[in-house]
Amino acid sequence: MKSIKDINLRNRKIILRAGWNVPLDEKTGEVLDDSRLVASAKTIEYIFKKKPKMLLVISHLGRPGGKIVPELSLEHLINPLEKILKRRIILIDKLERLQAIMQAGIFDKEAVYVLENIRFWSGEKENSEELAKIITNGFGVYVNDAFSVSHRAHCSIAQMPKFVTDAVMGLLFEEEFEHLSMVRDKPKQPAVAIIGGSKIATKLPVIENLAKKYEKVLVGGKVANEALDEKLKLPKNVILPVDFSPAEKENERLDIGPLTVVSFREALQGAKTIVWNGPLGKFEDPEASNGTRSIVKIIEESSAFKLIGGGETLEAIKKFGHPNRYNYISKSGGAMLEFMSGKKLPGIEALDN
Ligand code: 3PG
Repeated sequence: MKSIKDINLRNRKIILRAGWNVPLDEKTGEVLDDSRLVASAKTIEYIFKKKPKMLLVISHLGRPGGKIVPELSLEHLINPLEKILKRRIILIDKLERLQAIMQAGIFDKEAVYVLENIRFWSGEKENSEELAKIITNGFGVYVNDAFSVSHRAHCSIAQMPKFVTDAVMGLLFEEEFEHLSMVRDKPKQPAVAIIGGSKIATKLPVIENLAKKYEKVLVGGKVANEALDEKLKLPKNVILPVDFSPAEKENERLDIGPLTVVSFREALQGAKTIVWNGPLGKFEDPEASNGTRSIVKIIEESSAFKLIGGGETLEAIKKFGHPNRYNYISKSGGAMLEFMSGKKLPGIEALDN
């Protein structure tokens, strides 16, 4: 894959696929967490420094299901984006308007053109070649800066790169790809992974893939409960909990127990790489928080390279520890899990071709 740093951007018309899928207040439409917007400013500012002719940003927001849902309009992002980027945002809500702007060829070179929520068009989810052709018409460069949605075979991820001269990774995508590739393919040994949270269907392929290269994979949370209930046959270096907490509710398996904490602590001793995704119990409940709290403490005391991922994991760290003690915090949720399971993501395949 080529990086945005490898190509000339001067005087070019550029599409940037950003990951602006941020949480909104249901009643007011206010952006509740702007960290994804702040993060993408890095790539946007890089592009402007290179003096492009025109920049069009494309993103999805929520799951409108191929129709216009005003509550999920990118209009909600304009004010926060104008503050973060200190630039004028021009929202384009119709393809006819985009075509007219491209045909006129007169651009505000300092403004950020933003296409309305790409999931308002049914062609996005249908991975439509037709929609990709219409939108990319006139553009020479496509930049994917949305690793977080690169596990989806959607038009703006998998089709658009085909119709431009240069299709490259943005700075955030590249940072995510490099860190995740390093811990997946060449972790410093001994490497230990901790997988918790829910959804065995998504996590099992990650556990099995990491178990091939990692010394140990420690499993807790609902994933462990499901593995125990289903009596799954797991690789030998996968360690499941041996007890649960609180003692009086042992059968509910709300949290890993003290013996398990000790065995996880031993497994993590001397690790040079630690990857963690998913809490080890119902940590928001004080009586079932000890397992996750202890793991945060153990990891933060370790000198290993520490990479974490998943919204709940970050929440637990904010509650019990210090996010700045980790070497890398993945920003890509489901895409991180698919990547760690060894799957080739459609967004990566599209840039490889
Ligand atoms: C994201 O933006 O975090 C992901 O793409 C999640 O969105 P999706 O599951 O609706 O694709």
